[in-house]
Amino acid sequence: MRPTNKSARSLLDIELRVRRLADAATLAKALGVSHPTILRIIQERGNEVIRIGTTKNARYALRRSLRGNPEPIPVYKVDEKGKGSLLAYMHLADPEGAVLDVKGMGWPAPIDGSPWWDGLPYPLTDMRPQGFLGRSLARQIAKTFGVSENPEEWSDDDVIHVLTIKGNDNQGNLIIGDTAYQDFLHTVIHPVTSITEDELSQQYIELAQTATRFGGGGSSAGGEFPKFTAKRMLNEASNPYVIVKFSGADDSPAVRRWSDLLVCEHLALDVIRQSGSLCAPLSRIIQAGGRTFLEVERFDRVGEFGRIGTASLASLDNAYVGMGSGSWIDAAQKLVTERVIPSGLVEDISLMWWFGKLIANTDMHFGNLTFMIEPSLKLSPAYDMLPMLYAPLAGGEVPLREFELSLPKPQEEPTWSLAFNLAIKFWEAASKDVRITNSFRALCEMNLRLLQRVDEKLGMSNSG
Ligand SMILES: Nc1ncnc2c1ncn2[C@@H]1O[C@H](COP(=O)(O)OP(=O)(O)OP(=O)(O)O)[C@@H](O)[C@H]1O
Ligand SMILES: [Mg+2]
Repeated sequence: MRPTNKSARSLLDIELRVRRLADAATLAKALGVSHPTILRIIQERGNEVIRIGTTKNARYALRRSLRGNPEPIPVYKVDEKGKGSLLAYMHLADPEGAVLDVKGMGWPAPIDGSPWWDGLPYPLTDMRPQGFLGRSLARQIAKTFGVSENPEEWSDDDVIHVLTIKGNDNQGNLIIGDTAYQDFLHTVIHPVTSITEDELSQQYIELAQTATRFGGGGSSAGGEFPKFTAKRMLNEASNPYVIVKFSGADDSPAVRRWSDLLVCEHLALDVIRQSGSLCAPLSRIIQAGGRTFLEVERFDRVGEFGRIGTASLASLDNAYVGMGSGSWIDAAQKLVTERVIPSGLVEDISLMWWFGKLIANTDMHFGNLTFMIEPSLKLSPAYDMLPMLYAPLAGGEVPLREFELSLPKPQEEPTWSLAFNLAIKFWEAASKDVRITNSFRALCEMNLRLLQRVDEKLGMSNSG
């Protein structure tokens, strides 16, 4: 064998670190060696160099170790029956970036979607600890894992490190790393017992106390509102896993308003579920220990062990569009143009968006819309759908707010009208629900009257 060009060999690392990803021709030119020589140098490096694509079109990156471990990271999937399988390997690049064949995994991606990611591959962005529960987890593990108490400050390596060890119960159906996967298998062999109806109120009171005091209670589900996850027994439920949001336990105006809003969230889900046009999970309100609990069944779980993959609009937009914020409809249309999602989904997304607008939901960020990946891509059941216009301020003040009705452009009228009908049902239900305070019910009734007046004047409710 010919001795390899030593300086070219050490230059390879520098070139790859600077370029992140490069083909053989570029590298040969940069290092001043022939094409066969660069291929030989790369081959000699074995697993230290990651190769994307076939020999002719191959691109190369330098491998990064995760906390000293250079092995590629296995990505497991748990299917709807609860059976786990190895789906792909994720390779980390030096100094940053990753290789994960998201398209090959069956996840939404453009036809020519590259397996290269400048940062975290998008499926991991929904799995990373975030919001109320993410901060709780971070506070508990910060010292042992050597990570910040604020998960928003975590590097990609911190996120991956934590997920490979603690991430056996993520949003969706993916698990990365052998340790987390072994933990999942362990939970199948030794399942957690479900909370029975008899003990539910007491358990929820305790779980809320723990969640606020120590920031514990479950591991997945983002979002800023105080919440915990639980497993409960309920005959009519399709699975035992729930996300439970809860209000404070005192009688302050802010707490009373949050309680009203949790009841509204439940009513909005009910209206959507009964609409026949869109889906919403089963939910219920439990009032105990001075708190209002909103218990919502998880749509990414099936039966006791089954799971379904999910991808938020936030993660897809970030990967393929880059709007960051704005209308769900605009972002969805851009994803259609990029051929990430089929055009048939825009109708449902528009209906959900208009319903939100017409019930004064001012918090429809891209994290509040999700797609179900299996069996074929569709909009997930609704969540976080409530009149956030009326949310108290962070300091506890409950400001007076005026609801302004959003009107459609002519081409949007059919969908808007459907949403308008549902919104009337929502305001009607909220104005009658005795779990809501009188003052807020009066406000809901005012909004009902507003919609009814608009209907009388414009005749747009399609109610025939
Ligand atoms: N029924 C559900 N099944 C599965 N996942 C869910 C469900 N409801 C919510 N989630 C997930 O949990 C996250 C947090 O839920 P949600 O948005 O309701 O909380 P939040 O604290 O009100 O959020 P935000 O920070 O947007 O105010 C969602 O972004 C979604 O990924
Ligand atoms: Mg949310």
